Amino acid sequence: MIYLDNASTSWPKPDSVVNAVSDYIRNIGASPARGNCTAALDALGVVLDCREVVASFFGSTNPLNVIFSHNVTWAINTVLHGMLRSGDKVVSSTMEHNAVTRPLTALSEKGVEVVYSPCDEHGHLDLDAFEKNITGAKLAVLNHGSNVTGTVQDVEAISKICRSSGTVFLLDVAQSAGIVPVSFYQGPDIIAFTGHKGLLGVPGTGGMVFADGFQADRIHSLAQGGTGSLSEEARQPDFLPDRFEAGTMNGPGLAGLHAGIEYLNSIGLTEIYARKMKIAGMLARGIEEISGARVYRPSSDKLWTAVVSFTLPDSCTAAISDYLSREHNICCRYGFHCAASAHRTIGTFPEGTVRLSPGLFTTVSDIETTLEAVRMYRV
Ligand SMILES: Cc1ncc(COP(=O)(O)O)c(C=O)c1O
Repeated sequence: MIYLDNASTSWPKPDSVVNAVSDYIRNIGASPARGNCTAALDALGVVLDCREVVASFFGSTNPLNVIFSHNVTWAINTVLHGMLRSGDKVVSSTMEHNAVTRPLTALSEKGVEVVYSPCDEHGHLDLDAFEKNITGAKLAVLNHGSNVTGTVQDVEAISKICRSSGTVFLLDVAQSAGIVPVSFYQGPDIIAFTGHKGLLGVPGTGGMVFADGFQADRIHSLAQGGTGSLSEEARQPDFLPDRFEAGTMNGPGLAGLHAGIEYLNSIGLTEIYARKMKIAGMLARGIEEISGARVYRPSSDKLWTAVVSFTLPDSCTAAISDYLSREHNICCRYGFHCAASAHRTIGTFPEGTVRLSPGLFTTVSDIETTLEAVRMYRV
């Protein structure tokens, strides 16, 4: 199989990730912070170590500001539902995943004012319009990298606008983390991440990190119970991270996430980005050379996360994807990629696109085979 669906979830995982997950299950086993046996303390150590690695990866000095959850969708929901009430205003963009737009739809039905600020046909946010829209907003929520076009937004500029209007800025880094640098130095208040994509961890991991000084008590917890702390209390503890971490932690998953981030650190993001750009650039240019084919990507490769979304003339995206899978064992995704509004923005609604998303382990030969397969579809 040629796996080109890394924007959905990355695969394969480095051996160190597989070994870390397996080692936890085989040799640790116990529940973190439940009990004082050596194994429970080892399990707690795994969680604490992962907190430290995640904090430092995003430029935070406080591991207690790292909140783990199942994935970025859960983290985004926690902030949106935990913070917004009827009468509040929230600003987002027309390039969002439905991990953002669906909770916003639910909140708009409860009286929250939701404004979608426009992006151009390459997916870039119109900063002037955003600055006008932000007035009076309690929260802004945007993705850093689009899962449809790979367009990377200007986080520093957006943060500056949010800061000047006193708006909390929640940044969804599902597509960018592990591919392009993202950190609190760029100014967001909350970074929401998922563990199983560019960070190379396994599904079931993710969370959010608060900037130093962010008042997390502005967010109500969505779920309570099972923290292993303050068991004599009827209420959920209000300190971090326990305020938001209900139930037993995903120890094996966090061991894997730690190993995934260490793997990235051992190579370095500059090298990772260069490798991905080489592969994705080759793929995008090869498809663009096919008569009538169109690749939907940002105006500059410097603002790109290596996602290659394309259409072919007079061809349905499901048929192309089906052909690639059935005839060539190439794994990709077609349609909306959970982001219908992004397709309206870039002009690919209602057909969507075929999305090829190379990963860290995609080879030049994989790309040559894929290009040949796409060319054959045209014949
Ligand atoms: C931009 C963006 N946000 C959110 C998500 C949701 O990720 P998860 O399913 O890991 O919660 C995705 C996944 O494709 C995404 O691309």
